[in-house]
Amino acid sequence: MIQGVIFDLDGVLVSTDEFHYLGWQRLADSEGIYFDRRINERLRGVSRMESLAILLERATKTYSPPEKEAMAARKNAYYRELLQQITPRDVLPGVLPVLEGLKVAGIKTAIASSSRNCPLILERTGLAGRFDAVADGNHITNSKPDPEIFLLAARRLGLPAQVCLVVEDAEAGVTGALAAGMKVLAVGFAAADARAQLRAKGLGDVSVPQMLAV
Ligand code: BG6
Ligand code: MG
Repeated sequence: MIQGVIFDLDGVLVSTDEFHYLGWQRLADSEGIYFDRRINERLRGVSRMESLAILLERATKTYSPPEKEAMAARKNAYYRELLQQITPRDVLPGVLPVLEGLKVAGIKTAIASSSRNCPLILERTGLAGRFDAVADGNHITNSKPDPEIFLLAARRLGLPAQVCLVVEDAEAGVTGALAAGMKVLAVGFAAADARAQLRAKGLGDVSVPQMLAV
């Protein structure tokens, strides 16, 4: 029986994923590196520096570690510029009713996001303070598909992995959650992932009883 639900942030609770794409595309264009939406799919759920490494696979010159740090910082500045537009209206459909339903059912909730901008996004969307625990990119060494972030979130909830359900929109996230020994509800870009125990277009298309019965 599920006792805790652990949510990814980008693409599950808020659609910041388009802003990530625009930030990377702007960086790639300024460096003359080929980048497109298909390559961007591989960055979903992956940490900032690992995302940069994927983008640099198409680079024609080699960059030193300090140059890479500077590029990642530039992308983050572009991204944070776009994040200024985010308001509570950008919380995805179904999120607030699901959080309310889980609260009524006495189910604990947590965030497990690779993003180091997680606190800013939670603040700007009004979601801060609505979760029993938050684990984000500032608290981990190994990003998804490593299970570390999910295990940290469960530990912060005081729950064993087997009673946790993870909601994910990234292939790397589904892999990490399953490796942590948790159940998965795959949504959005991961909605066709056959490895997940439950699949839905988004949180607006699944009920709390369905989530708890996996
Ligand atoms: C994840 C996104 O949530 O956070 C990735 O899906 C992103 O695309 C990662 O690279 C790290 O985000 P940030 O905000 O720390 O650069
Ligand atoms: Mg995501």
